[in-house]
Amino acid sequence: MLINVGEVPKVALEDMNEIHEDEIKIVNKLYEKILGYEDNKTDFEELVKVFEEFLNDVVNHFSFENSLMSEYNFFAYPMHRGEHDRVLFELKSLEKLLKENKDVETLKDYLVNNFKPWIVNHVKTMDTVTAMYLSNFL
Ligand SMILES: [Fe+2]
Ligand SMILES: [Fe+2]
Repeated sequence: MLINVGEVPKVALEDMNEIHEDEIKIVNKLYEKILGYEDNKTDFEELVKVFEEFLNDVVNHFSFENSLMSEYNFFAYPMHRGEHDRVLFELKSLEKLLKENKDVETLKDYLVNNFKPWIVNHVKTMDTVTAMYLSNFL
């Protein structure tokens, strides 16, 4: 397991909590596939399929928050959106490395050393403030 669901704090909007929980499940599934691949128990195509599922989930997660922030004129929207865009760019670069070079090692390193601490901190800070603001309208 990469991330324990309890490591990601709850925010003031239930829809956001559900999205976060689902994402943790998917990233954990991806992490298990990576470990399986390293042990020759998972084939590469299967790993790529779960990576695509993860990337798709992240895209939906970020666009859900972006559209609410835009709709309700959240004061820190550009900053919060900027973080989403940065992480998405990194994940798309990893997708390229994975598909073109079969670089599973860089993906694993990124998930452990970047994505995990990032998502925990992001939910604790930007998502928490955003959800608190949005909960005045929703
Ligand atoms: Fe979020
Ligand atoms: Fe966010």
